Amino acid sequence: IQVSAFDLVVFGGTGDLAARKLLPAMFQRDRAGQLPDAGRIIGVSRRPLGDEGYLDFVRTSLRDHVKAADLEPEALARFLARIHFLPVDVTGETGWAELAALLASGADHVRAFYFAVSPDLFAPISQRIKQFGLVTPKSRVVVEKPLGKDGESAREVNAAVACVFEESQVFRIDHYLGKETVQNLMALRFANRMFEPLWNSTHIDHIQITVAEDIGVGERGGYYDTSGAVRDMVQNHILQLLCLTAMEPPDAFEADSVRDEKLKVLKALKCINDRNAEHCTVRGQYRSGSVNGQPTPGYLLDISKEESDTETFVAIRAEIANWRWAGVPFFLRTGKRLGGRTSEIVVNFRPISHSIFDHTAGRISQNRLVIRLQPDEGMTLEVMIKDPGPGGMRLRSIPLDMSFAETFGVSNPDAYERLLMDVIRGNQTLFMRHDEVAAAWRWVDPILAAWSNTAQRVHHYAAGTWGPSASVALIERDGRTWLEDS
Ligand code: BG6
Repeated sequence: IQVSAFDLVVFGGTGDLAARKLLPAMFQRDRAGQLPDAGRIIGVSRRPLGDEGYLDFVRTSLRDHVKAADLEPEALARFLARIHFLPVDVTGETGWAELAALLASGADHVRAFYFAVSPDLFAPISQRIKQFGLVTPKSRVVVEKPLGKDGESAREVNAAVACVFEESQVFRIDHYLGKETVQNLMALRFANRMFEPLWNSTHIDHIQITVAEDIGVGERGGYYDTSGAVRDMVQNHILQLLCLTAMEPPDAFEADSVRDEKLKVLKALKCINDRNAEHCTVRGQYRSGSVNGQPTPGYLLDISKEESDTETFVAIRAEIANWRWAGVPFFLRTGKRLGGRTSEIVVNFRPISHSIFDHTAGRISQNRLVIRLQPDEGMTLEVMIKDPGPGGMRLRSIPLDMSFAETFGVSNPDAYERLLMDVIRGNQTLFMRHDEVAAAWRWVDPILAAWSNTAQRVHHYAAGTWGPSASVALIERDGRTWLEDS
């Protein structure tokens, strides 16, 4: 179904996010027939490009980030006809009147301002949007991470945007929520009878959430070195995955019901601070090694620095202090230059309460549900069965497997496709509310403070491994093992 007429104004229109994600996503939605004729994309940037120059930028972005087979000439021509460009000085006056004039020609359109720029520009841009009277009842603003570098700066960013836009107009993107497999978590939990009765500390032993990447920091060393894995991945993506895994059933699949439940999980996270950070967290940084058979340089070389204390890997033992989850550890881990690209949630069930079989049957493994978010999207439920044959009662764990690619035969759309359409439709379910962001920082800030107060060391790990051995020790202290090591 087509969305309504819209103007999507992309601040940072010549930036990396526009090139890699936003333009390709809009192009794919256009190909799918979801964009109406009256749908315009207005790139805004300091760069003094003319319309032709910007069209070249768009063409190159699509060529680099869209499958060649999808770039049919008619589809490309239709998409390029939607593109406009304006050079605007976002902290000055130049270009704003032209932007206002262009937007006035679509006065009844949904108007989405996308802030794909550094957060210190959110305040000046918001003010100018107000000053030039660009906010209409159908306006929305999309803000990208990082939403601050701690609770305090997140509050400032939020306040700057809130001076101009109502909360119902603010769309805080966490692109993990746009991933099909992440949304599938909600289907799995709340559209099946069989999981919910078992989804608690009586039946679940522990949960692992891993978001592993084999890439390094690439060209983003400048940003990354001031951020680190906790701010870059845990504060947002991993905590969102944790929330969807652990939250109570919302009363409807509707923005505030879902967000209320996620917020309760964030509030119930047990504090990690100077007292227990050493015990509950491990920091790591990659050194040279070998990734997929290729020799790979270490982090310091990647960021061209002699030294750095920034973590490119983190493992955390988290706990949720509420009735459902008391005593169930959640082991979270993420890092760059690890042994593979894999994001997964592993739910490990408790052992059976009593075995009726004798020792000849073999070991009874605990049931395990592995939800693979990417790549190779799907899930596996490990169950015990009798090994067929006359050799007596021998037990074996086998996987009940489901793969999205095999079952549906299509590849999943990119997360930004779904999220951009939701912005135009005005559906905030897959976006974060300001109090969620604040609650996430309230848990993260004491961890970061503890690391700096206690000078907690960064363990080195070779690129292409699963992080420092201290991460294995962290989980083994609890008598458990990471899925990759088991
Ligand atoms: C981004 C982080 O938010 O997510 C990057 O800033 C990271 O460092 C990326 O590489 C991972 O996203 P995806 O969709 O590739 O898992």
